[in-house]
Amino acid sequence: MAVSFEKDIKPLFRQIDIDHMGKHNIFLDKYTYMADPSNDHGNAQSVEETLVDQSMPPGGPYWSKEQLLLYKQWRSDGYLP
Ligand code: HEM
Repeated sequence: MAVSFEKDIKPLFRQIDIDHMGKHNIFLDKYTYMADPSNDHGNAQSVEETLVDQSMPPGGPYWSKEQLLLYKQWRSDGYLP
């Protein structure tokens, strides 16, 4: 099944993630931000990089291999809402 942002990806972010990053103008819970096609989907790419290199969330809990695969699949499926 194709991966959906609202159903599959958004629930992976904790409220604290959404709240903290909103202050930095990074809107983890907003489809229009996360799926923004500008800069070759730069927002989705930057978020993925911080999750993969475990710079975010600071101190963890870091995303599991399964969660990271789901996120990557959401991107390769075409950023479905
Ligand atoms: C483009 C992607 C991101 C950038 C540039 C970014 C940058 C930052 C910066 C500069 C801070 C404040 C300084 C620090 O505590 O290190 C911060 C805090 C935080 N970020 Fe991110 N972040 C990104 C993505 C994420 C993601 C994907 C998550 C969660 C899955 C996340 C969760 C958090 C949390 C929870 C804090 C607050 C930590 C605390 O105060 O203890 N961030 N982020």
